[in-house]
Amino acid sequence: EQKQFFSTHLLAWYLIHRRDLPWRRSRNPYHIWISEVMLQQTRVDTVIPYFHKFTELFPTVEALATAPEDEVLKAWEGLGYYSRARNLQQAVREVHEQYGGTVPDSKEEFSSLRGVGPYTSGAVLSIAYNKPEPAVDGNVMRVLSRYFLIEDDIAKPAARIGMEKLARDLIPEGAAGDFNQALMELGAMVCTPRSPQCLTCPVMDQCAGRLAGREETLPVKTKA
Ligand code: ADE
Repeated sequence: EQKQFFSTHLLAWYLIHRRDLPWRRSRNPYHIWISEVMLQQTRVDTVIPYFHKFTELFPTVEALATAPEDEVLKAWEGLGYYSRARNLQQAVREVHEQYGGTVPDSKEEFSSLRGVGPYTSGAVLSIAYNKPEPAVDGNVMRVLSRYFLIEDDIAKPAARIGMEKLARDLIPEGAAGDFNQALMELGAMVCTPRSPQCLTCPVMDQCAGRLAGREETLPVKTKA
């Protein structure tokens, strides 16, 4: 059915088209976590050099946990949203002190760390540990709202919760990390906010938004 088609074709597409990004070469949960925090409000091209520098300066949980805050903020300089760096260091200190430096692999434990919301925990647990958790950000809500023609207002928390439920249901057995990254990649490269590249989309044939000619009017988002 429509869900099965989506999961199968999107995953197959990703395995062929995935960009070779530095954090995709790593299986280190701490490094993947850093990349997801940096990528939340910052573009991939901007993040790449910062990711290299940051993981060189602070290669381990212990190195970041014990570093002076001003050195961490200096390494973050230019990325903006500095509370991300402060919260990340605080959370990494919790991992150092409470978990012996091992990033927790359960939703309950990881989500309880400072600054870790549903997106970050889903992304890190799925990509680093292949846990079947959804990772729903703005890009993912755009893809899902178009493919399933969902007209819920994505500015409302209820819409995100509904999308998380749907996204969880779509995860193929044993492929959570690749599937979540496939959703992000489709949103970034094909199912873009304006002029989406539907003709190159692996799931166009069953995209309800496209079939209704609605791809450019979705998602519905009221002004904040
Ligand atoms: N945006 C958020 N997470 C990402 C990831 N892992 N790869 C590429 N873009 C992303």
